[in-house]
Amino acid sequence: MTSTEDRLLGPDQVRARVAEQLTRSRARSEALTGAVDEDDLVRQHSKLMSPLVWDLAHIGNQEELWLVRDVGGREPVRSDIDELYDAFQHPRADRPALPLLPPAEARGYVREVRDKVFDVLERVPLEGRRLVDQGFAFGMIVQHEQQHDETMLATHQLRVGAPVLHAPDPAPATAPAAREVLVPAGEFTMGTTTEPWALDNERPAFRTHVEAYYIDTVPVSNGDYLAFIDAGGYDDPRWWSEPGWAYRQHAKLTAPRFWSRDGDGWARTRFGVVEPVPHDEPVVHVCFHEAAAYAKWAGKRLPTEPEWEKAARHDPATGRSRRFPWGDEDPGPEHANLGQRHLRPAPVGSYPRGESPLGVRQLMGDVWEWLDSDLQPYPGFAAFPYREYSEVFFGGDYKMLRGGSFGTDASAVRGTFRNWDHPIRRQIFAGFRCARDVPAAEAR
Ligand code: AVJ
Ligand code: FE
Repeated sequence: MTSTEDRLLGPDQVRARVAEQLTRSRARSEALTGAVDEDDLVRQHSKLMSPLVWDLAHIGNQEELWLVRDVGGREPVRSDIDELYDAFQHPRADRPALPLLPPAEARGYVREVRDKVFDVLERVPLEGRRLVDQGFAFGMIVQHEQQHDETMLATHQLRVGAPVLHAPDPAPATAPAAREVLVPAGEFTMGTTTEPWALDNERPAFRTHVEAYYIDTVPVSNGDYLAFIDAGGYDDPRWWSEPGWAYRQHAKLTAPRFWSRDGDGWARTRFGVVEPVPHDEPVVHVCFHEAAAYAKWAGKRLPTEPEWEKAARHDPATGRSRRFPWGDEDPGPEHANLGQRHLRPAPVGSYPRGESPLGVRQLMGDVWEWLDSDLQPYPGFAAFPYREYSEVFFGGDYKMLRGGSFGTDASAVRGTFRNWDHPIRRQIFAGFRCARDVPAAEAR
């Protein structure tokens, strides 16, 4: 028996869960697009991002393709716009020049699609077809909308102007017992076969051996990272990989993105607010190369993807892998800083109730964590339901990110969830934690 099997829901429960999640994700999309005026919706705030109005209609278009046309077998709502909102047809930088639906039309379009989807959800049988088993296609579309909501939140962070988003700050932290923990050598179960809404790249579950390693109980803080800056870390090629140093030189990196000099110290801009950099918060808006350079300077390294997942899921008492570090329950506000409840990471050492069996904290939420692994398929991977979600990115120039950020919804992250980006990207809500090998003298 596994706890995931316990979680299998009957069709009415699946429908209720889907309806609730669709409603939540739409409320978030509406809040993110409703917070700015029309000009801000159609403008490009950064070459790295789409106009917000593109994300909105793209959310509706994916929903139409999968839930109205495929699952529902209905006529297209608008077949003329598929090409405009196909992410593979137009790079982000080119999207503002496209004949996009203007804001009012985009809003009308996503509303019309959603109305049809609720009708499909009521009528379509959820058994007998893998695409809809346990509501999978609906769950995939919920996650897709939430992923784009996080992307839109990153666009908000790049937007210049007075603050338009507001949220309470997280509570002060309690310190963990130890700064790092030893994860003993041994096999664990990575990935999942049974989690109903897990995406193709998380599948199937497999056993894998991981050598013993130490991992930090908390992410690297701004205060930690400042010590690297103050020690001249950005000017010393010893700490940087060859491509990392080349990028540091090319982009003239001197600090995390959104930081600026403020007298002797540093300030940062966060959703339009300029404030002193808080030393006790996980560092965010660093690229993979900066994370790796810091780790080397600190005499450590970034964890690999199996190391991260073992720290997050392996329960040494039972030998099984949990859905989340704290157990199998869905994330609540006591476990992790997820869901844009706050507009910042929580101080390092927060969420003691979210820690893993070995005492590792903040693996879920706060900041995505850069890992020293490339995006590759698991043994037995099969693209489902479309190659363009994961397969076309395998073997490319991507580094793995795990655990979600304060801007990731609970429905769009779990212990097995895999995210990736180019190693130079800094606009995403990414930080890192360090790991290290067990010294030979200690290993037995
Ligand atoms: C898996 C988060 C890298 O946002 O680019 C959204 C998810 N795929 N639309 C992304 C995705 C298609 C993807 N990541
Ligand atoms: Fe998308």
